[in-house]
Amino acid sequence: MSETILITGGAGFIGSELVRQTLGRGDGTRVVVLDKLTYAGNRANLEAVEQDPEQAARFTFVHGDIADPEVVGPLMAGATAVVNVAAETHVDRSILDPEAFLRTGVIGVHVLLEAVKVEHQRAGRGERGPVRFLQVSTDEVYGDIEAPQRSVETDGLAPRSPYAAAKASSELLVRAYHITYGLDLVMTRGSNTYGPHQHPEKLIPLFTTNALDGKPLPMYGDGMQIRDWLHVSDHAAGIAFVLRNGVAGEAYNVAGEHLLPNREVIGQLLAATGRDWSLVRTVPDRPGHDRRYAMDGSKLAALGWRPRVAFETGLPETVAWYRDNPAWIASAKTGDWDAYYARQYGDRLAAGQAVDTTPS
Ligand code: NAD
Ligand code: DAU
Repeated sequence: MSETILITGGAGFIGSELVRQTLGRGDGTRVVVLDKLTYAGNRANLEAVEQDPEQAARFTFVHGDIADPEVVGPLMAGATAVVNVAAETHVDRSILDPEAFLRTGVIGVHVLLEAVKVEHQRAGRGERGPVRFLQVSTDEVYGDIEAPQRSVETDGLAPRSPYAAAKASSELLVRAYHITYGLDLVMTRGSNTYGPHQHPEKLIPLFTTNALDGKPLPMYGDGMQIRDWLHVSDHAAGIAFVLRNGVAGEAYNVAGEHLLPNREVIGQLLAATGRDWSLVRTVPDRPGHDRRYAMDGSKLAALGWRPRVAFETGLPETVAWYRDNPAWIASAKTGDWDAYYARQYGDRLAAGQAVDTTPS
């Protein structure tokens, strides 16, 4: 019998890429998306599958909240696998308003796990086949990693922002449900992801769209924070790989293997947009800003998976996608965008300064 995968948060950046890849395999797999359509969810991200008659026939969209058991229960009953991509995902917003992060990241994940438990018990009575659940997590659960260390999956969790704390809490719930109830659960910890369809609140799309518009680029602090960059197609492929090959109860780093300081990312982005450093402002830092993330990807590599897209090609292609899709950018900068931007950047940009780019 063909699979039915429930992808929560499938109207977002990574979730919609996972939907496109899954349906694009053309192997008969059906996909159900459950998405609350928060400010970050965008139906336009699913246009490609909804406009393809063959893929659309295997696709269902449900507008709803993972924290609502009435919605989740029936969807879980029809699923052979579940990938929980849904979350509140922006660190800066978690500093301004943490509660939504806990509602989705803790209560929402609890509701999903309870529904998996019901289906697992039904499977035990022979009433249905098995169900596997994958929780999409992040390298931020490891906290700030000093060079030259790289996080491995057995390291302790040391989150430092409300966002990261909510993600770590989800992981602890998943671990507990695997140990206590024997559910088939796996987790991925992805690194900083970039590519088309990412909400413009995040570094690369924010700086790209601002640069294209000739607006200032607000660089936090000295811009020497280090992130590990992973293309969205690789992140989604890594999730699908772990869903198929991961061992129950285990977490897997999905590393980009491409560590860069923000200044280097900004330099490459300016080159790709044809702008220069005069647009960049150094602004007051993010509170508790993690200096460096770095993961060791060898556990997944040993199973046969590695990222494929080089940052040097992925970044200019991403910039070109934003340049070519002004209607999509406009659809993402709706809702609370102007109010959020003013709250997050108004005072910061007023205090901002030009960046010294003279070589030391
Ligand atoms: P995103 O913000 O683009 O999308 C999140 C999606 O989840 C949206 O469609 C939103 O509407 C939906 N959603 C939010 N709350 C919901 C709820 N309660 N019920 C149902 N749907 C809900 O996020 P993203 O960047 O694609 O991240 C996806 C996942 O990957 C998240 O779990 C995030 O923590 C994780 N992650 C992201 C990155 C990254 O760099 N973007 C890196 C590692 C891990
Ligand atoms: O590491 C994985 C995480 O990557 C994911 O779990 C999160 O969901 C995702 O949002 C991302 O978190 P970051 O905080 O690393 O991403 P962000 O794009 O917000 O910031 C990247 C770096 O750029 C970080 O050092 C902060 C800096 N930055 C960001 C913004 C938005 C700026 O200097 N200026 C900005 O305006």
